[in-house]
Amino acid sequence: MSHHLSTDDITTQNPSFTTNAYAIIVAGGSGTRMQSAVPKQFLLLNGKPVLMHTLEAFYSSQLKPELIVVLPVNYHEYWTYLCTQYEFKLPHHLVSGGVTRFHSVKNGLQLVPDDALVAVHDAVRPMVDTATIEEAYQQAALVGSVVVAVKSRDSVRQVTGNKTKSLIREEIYLVQTPQTFQANLLKKAYELPYQDSFTDDASVAEQAGNTIQIVEGSYQNFKITFPEDIALAEILLNKKGHL
Ligand code: C5P
Repeated sequence: MSHHLSTDDITTQNPSFTTNAYAIIVAGGSGTRMQSAVPKQFLLLNGKPVLMHTLEAFYSSQLKPELIVVLPVNYHEYWTYLCTQYEFKLPHHLVSGGVTRFHSVKNGLQLVPDDALVAVHDAVRPMVDTATIEEAYQQAALVGSVVVAVKSRDSVRQVTGNKTKSLIREEIYLVQTPQTFQANLLKKAYELPYQDSFTDDASVAEQAGNTIQIVEGSYQNFKITFPEDIALAEILLNKKGHL
């Protein structure tokens, strides 16, 4: 996990790859669970919008991926305003969100060349660490499709109708993002017609016949979903010495 990936590493491990790395940051949802007028990706975390923290995390990784931000079209102007207000200068492309996460990712993929590596990441996971981002690119270069995931810390039960059944906890992983792929493979998968079961990119890639590998992540890489998540993220960031 602590190994820092250089562009040389990737081309050495898999010479068929260019050094192109892309990150599609999906913020295409308008979010209602927060009970707030402001979508979660714009909430302030230590005085700065969540989405800016997320973009900075990717930009500071060794591969310096080209950044693609997917936002609902009616928030593009607001985002441009925020970038001016917060003097946010990281170069990025801005793409329109779709009706579901699947459609938002598909829009982002249009800017990604076939021979690149592409990470898809939820804008509302600003706590992702650089080592995890790099490990996911590195493994994707080797095996094609990887998801960052953590082992379940709780026991889990499966509910079917009115019956419940315990599952083997050791076998259960909770999937996060980034989800990182060889772009040609993911772009092909996203040509499939939409299904409700496509809740993440790995489910799309798997349906297209690919095998998904897990990169172990961190519990701190949680999705900002409820108002209290901002407070928790601030405590963790301040502990790490971030501003
Ligand atoms: O819906 P969920 O909470 O799983 O959303 C995960 C990520 O997908 C969020 O970052 C959200 O902004 C994004 N999303 C999107 N387009 C949609 C719906 C969700 O980019 N239409």
